[in-house]
Amino acid sequence: MTQDPNTRAEVEPTEIGANAAETGERRLEDTHDVTADHEVPIGDLDFAAVAEHGHVAAERDPDAPAVLTVDNLKMYFPVKSSGLVRRTIGQVQAVDGISFEVPKGGSLGLVGESGCGKSTTGRLITRLYTPTGGSMMFEGQDLAKLSNREMKPLRRDVQMIFQDPYTSLNPRHTVGTIVGAPLEVHNIVPKKQVIPRVKELLEVVGLNPEHYNRYPNEFSGGQRQRIGIARALTLNPKILVADEPVSALDVSIQAQVVNLLQDIQREFDVAFLFIAHDLAIVRHFCPEIAVMYLGKIVEIGDRETIYSHPHHPYTQALLSAVPDVKQAAVGGRRERIRLEGDVPSPINPPSGCRFRTRCQFAQEICAKVEPPLLQIGKRHKVACHFAGELGAHPATPVTTEILGVDDQGSAVPGATPAARLSIPGYEKTWYDLDTKQTAGA
Ligand SMILES: Nc1ncnc2c1ncn2[C@@H]1O[C@H](COP(=O)(O)OP(=O)(O)OP(=O)(O)O)[C@@H](O)[C@H]1O
Ligand code: SF4
Ligand SMILES: [Mg+2]
Repeated sequence: MTQDPNTRAEVEPTEIGANAAETGERRLEDTHDVTADHEVPIGDLDFAAVAEHGHVAAERDPDAPAVLTVDNLKMYFPVKSSGLVRRTIGQVQAVDGISFEVPKGGSLGLVGESGCGKSTTGRLITRLYTPTGGSMMFEGQDLAKLSNREMKPLRRDVQMIFQDPYTSLNPRHTVGTIVGAPLEVHNIVPKKQVIPRVKELLEVVGLNPEHYNRYPNEFSGGQRQRIGIARALTLNPKILVADEPVSALDVSIQAQVVNLLQDIQREFDVAFLFIAHDLAIVRHFCPEIAVMYLGKIVEIGDRETIYSHPHHPYTQALLSAVPDVKQAAVGGRRERIRLEGDVPSPINPPSGCRFRTRCQFAQEICAKVEPPLLQIGKRHKVACHFAGELGAHPATPVTTEILGVDDQGSAVPGATPAARLSIPGYEKTWYDLDTKQTAGA
């Protein structure tokens, strides 16, 4: 067990997680045959192509199947009393029933303010945490239900790039050891091919391959993050969780690292869950974006919809702070929406809609009934009783009929609420906000 540097929790380490020293990472001996043939094909990866081609934004395939399906995922951390007998006196509802899909080879951006549960979501998917509830289907297996031993082979497929390149690399190990350890732990290649493979990976991420014997403190922040990316790529994963991979970096090199990730995504066909608090960064990387608030997804959709037609008051407020985004609903002007007050505690979140304590449109129903994450367009879902374009939020709740409640949120006798509304992915039909009828292709 180790102490998580970011979250204070005691967590089970992954084989190649942040604390490599406790995960079986071994120093590569200098006796390795570093002159081995570099041209040996490594799996089906075209390293040379990655190293050479330019930066072109990845296209989204709207019909790509999901590589990961997350359904009603929950993570509650117990809050313990102080004193000799430490009783559980509450729960931090860090992630509370979120559902989404990550398409094969695609990328989903996860954004939201500090403390909304983004990192916890990433750590659940990589099984650094065991969820309190819900499922995470990956290649026919539910990652949420697997034991650590059963997870071991799957850790190759689900890897993480950590936020802080200064603490996520073991300072006592050389780059060769850090990047090469997963190969040895998982017995991927014969021992004498480890160093050649490490050198190839360093080249892919834009580092001098001959620097494999240097230590992390000999590299800049951006270079260290490249080392972290090389480590995450070592096992040719199918999903990469990138937890704020550039936020600790100087602005001038953030774009370089984002471009590198884009190249890698396209060439390696790896799916990304790209976590950020900055909507501007996600915009350049992710065709699909989910907005989180206090443990819930409040809006999710394709990039064009989220940036041009956000329907949730929280997304609209977040976007109003992005310098180059103009709100279509207010004549293309950019109006700064100030969010009043602090984010409430996830130990005792507000009833109904969690955003209601800071929402200028909140009404009685918002305190009584939680709005479902309702599909309102082909690739657009929103969780708001008064969902609408900025400047055109409806006066009456749009959700009453499907929830079987009146405008105040009280149950209507005899009304039948619709079946479960918040599911992962998108249906072919959706709920039209104007007609309050099912629409679709
Ligand atoms: N191990 C833990 N034990 C108790 N509470 C935790 C633990 N990890 C996270 N939390 C709490 O869960 C909530 C979500 O935390 P998380 O780190 O996922 O947020 P985040 O969205 O990644 O924030 P940031 O943008 O600051 O990184 C926070 O209130 C946090 O304090
Ligand atoms: S449900 Fe109510 S409180 Fe929540 S975002 Fe919508 S209007 Fe605001
Ligand atoms: Mg975080």
